[in-house]
Amino acid sequence: MRVHDGPVSAAISARRSVRKFARLTVDGDTVERLVALACTAPAPHHSRPWRFVQVGAESRERLADAMGEAWRADLERKGESVHVIDRLLRRSHGQLMEAPVLLLACLSLEGHHRWPDDERRRAERDMFVQSLGAALQNLLLAAGEAGLAGYLKGAPLFSADAVRSALDLPADWEPTFLVLLGYPDKSAELSPREAIDIDRFLVRR
Ligand SMILES: Cc1cc2nc3c(=O)[nH]c(=O)nc-3n(C[C@H](O)[C@H](O)[C@H](O)COP(=O)(O)O)c2cc1C
Repeated sequence: MRVHDGPVSAAISARRSVRKFARLTVDGDTVERLVALACTAPAPHHSRPWRFVQVGAESRERLADAMGEAWRADLERKGESVHVIDRLLRRSHGQLMEAPVLLLACLSLEGHHRWPDDERRRAERDMFVQSLGAALQNLLLAAGEAGLAGYLKGAPLFSADAVRSALDLPADWEPTFLVLLGYPDKSAELSPREAIDIDRFLVRR
C-alpha cells in the first residue's frame, strides 16, 4: 500500500523548530484554537491529561527567574563555571521574555488507574506522558497551519516545583514543557532535515 502525499503529510514534513520570531502579536482566539486542537489528541482511558497555562507579560519575569534559579543550582552542582552559567541563563531568560506566545504544558494524571506495583504504575504513567506528546504535536502542526511556528523547551521538567510555585498552579498539574510560539522571523535559518533511513527505524519480524 502506498501512502498518498496530501496536506497532512505536507504539514508534518514542514513542521520545524523555529526559534526566532517576528515582532508580531498572536491574537488570543488563535491561541485558544491551538490549545483546543491540542486537546483532541488520543489519550488513555478517555482521559484528558493535558493542562495549558498561557503565561502573560506580568508572570513571565517571575517564571523566568524561578526557572533560572533552579537551573543555576543544577549547573553549580555540576561544577559549571560562573561564566558559562551566566551565559546560559541570560540566553534562556531572553527566550522566555521574547516569545510572542508562551504556553506551559502540564501533565495531569486525573483518571489514571492506581496499580499496586511500581512496574505497572510506571507503565500507566508512560501512557499519559505519550498522550502529552501527541497533544504537543497537534499544537505545533496546527500552529504551522496558522502561519505560526515555535519550539518546545523541556526545562520545566527539571524545575517543576519552582514553575508550579511561580505560576501558582494546582499541586496535581505537573509542569513539563514550554511551547514558545510566534510568527517566524524571515531571517530564521533552518538546517536541512536529515533524510529518514527507514531501515534504521522500522524492522519487520
Ligand atoms: C522533548 C523535547 C524537548 C525539547 N527541548 C528543547 C529545548 O529545551 N530547547 C530547544 O531549543 N529545543 C528543544 N526541543 C526541540 C528539538 O531540539 C527539535 O525538535 C529537534 O532538534 C528536531 O528539530 P525539528 O523540530 O526542527 O525537526 C525539544 C524537543 C522535544 C521533543
